[in-house]
Amino acid sequence: MRVLVLGGGGREHALCWKIAQSPDCEALFCAPGNAGTAQLATPLTLDLLDHAAVAAACGTHGIDLVVIGPEAPLVDGLADSLRRRGVAVFGPSAAAARLEGSKAFANAFMARHGVPTARSWDFTDGAALRAHLQTCPIPVVIKADGLAAGKGVVVATDRAMALEAARAMTEERRFGAAADVVVVEEFLPGEEASVFALVDDDGVVLLQPLQDHKRRFDGDEGPNTGGMGAYTPVPALDAALLARVRETIIEPMARGLAQEGMCYRGVLYAGLMLTPDGPKVVEFNVRFGDPECQPLLMALQSDLLPLLTATARSELASAAAPVFVPGAALCVVLVAEGYPGSYPRGREIRGLDTVQGDDVVVFHAGTRSGPDGQVLTSGGRVLGVTARGDDVAAAQARAYVAIDTLHFDGMGFRRDIASRALARE
Ligand code: AMP
Ligand code: GLY
Repeated sequence: MRVLVLGGGGREHALCWKIAQSPDCEALFCAPGNAGTAQLATPLTLDLLDHAAVAAACGTHGIDLVVIGPEAPLVDGLADSLRRRGVAVFGPSAAAARLEGSKAFANAFMARHGVPTARSWDFTDGAALRAHLQTCPIPVVIKADGLAAGKGVVVATDRAMALEAARAMTEERRFGAAADVVVVEEFLPGEEASVFALVDDDGVVLLQPLQDHKRRFDGDEGPNTGGMGAYTPVPALDAALLARVRETIIEPMARGLAQEGMCYRGVLYAGLMLTPDGPKVVEFNVRFGDPECQPLLMALQSDLLPLLTATARSELASAAAPVFVPGAALCVVLVAEGYPGSYPRGREIRGLDTVQGDDVVVFHAGTRSGPDGQVLTSGGRVLGVTARGDDVAAAQARAYVAIDTLHFDGMGFRRDIASRALARE
């Protein structure tokens, strides 16, 4: 098969890394990619907003399967455009991608299909929003309805913070049109975990659960980021609980999508809170998480490509189940100085050649090739150092040993990735 991966972060490098190992993969392309994907896949220059150009490239290169990594082209309808032109695509329709593109839509969809989540209220009027926040129970969660790069959510621990979050969204317009609707949710207590499920017209396949680390600093301090590290499996989400997630969340969602005629052939990412009343949905994404994709694919022993193909063709019901390695895998993200605020680019990365072995891989996120063959930073999240081991401790030790050999000016990372699982071990 000839495969085209769209996107340019750590998730896409991990996808290319795994797909390239498949005996079914005959040729691999990536657009726009990064310095890491360029080692595995032929880079293509494509504007993902130009659907006709992407379709034309598929024709030129004889592409059999397109894998769409990030949410923006999905919300923009790229999967629909390609499918209309007869291209097999791993990625949901624009109609279904609203599960990520609009939190109000996702909440209403869950309500229609009886999927457990937080109680929520939508506001388009600043005064009504303020009035609600004056009297609601605290803590309370305030969300911009639309896409805000993971930054549009405030968990307010006192009323002043809640009102300030509302002001930033409605008056200062910090998230622009993404906060035309502001969603207020009841606060759900518990431990967070994520479940990724492959979903097509009549099948679901659950993958191994993961846990992300969203805050910038150790001990879950500091600002929210796109993700500072992740690990799999999650001891708090055992087989019994996972069966409950399948029954109460994933299957009703898949049925609901089919009933409402929204084509879903991709991965559904359920961000969950494991509350005392059972697992409840905190958010949906319509793509693999980043960095979660990196440890997930390192832990996946069986071939990924047949699963992606089966999803794109809606043949999941008859696909072989995925097999995961025993033990654990984790990813530690190396970020630029200042991330998640503004940060410099163009810093040289050293030590990439020193990391070797089957059980540790450095996935590139924000990197590009320099003029003299060096690798330079070009984003906030720069690298994802991903390792597997017989247990969490072994995987963690392997990742941090590799990090000691890597360097770029201003490099930062968390030292406590997977510490919750380690505590349980
Ligand atoms: P989201 O982008 O919707 O996943 O929200 C970002 C983070 O905010 C989540 O990972 C949770 O830590 C937290 N969060 C969101 N919604 C809730 C909620 N209803 N209750 C508690 N925490 C929440
Ligand atoms: N790491 C969180 C996400 O991909 O949304």
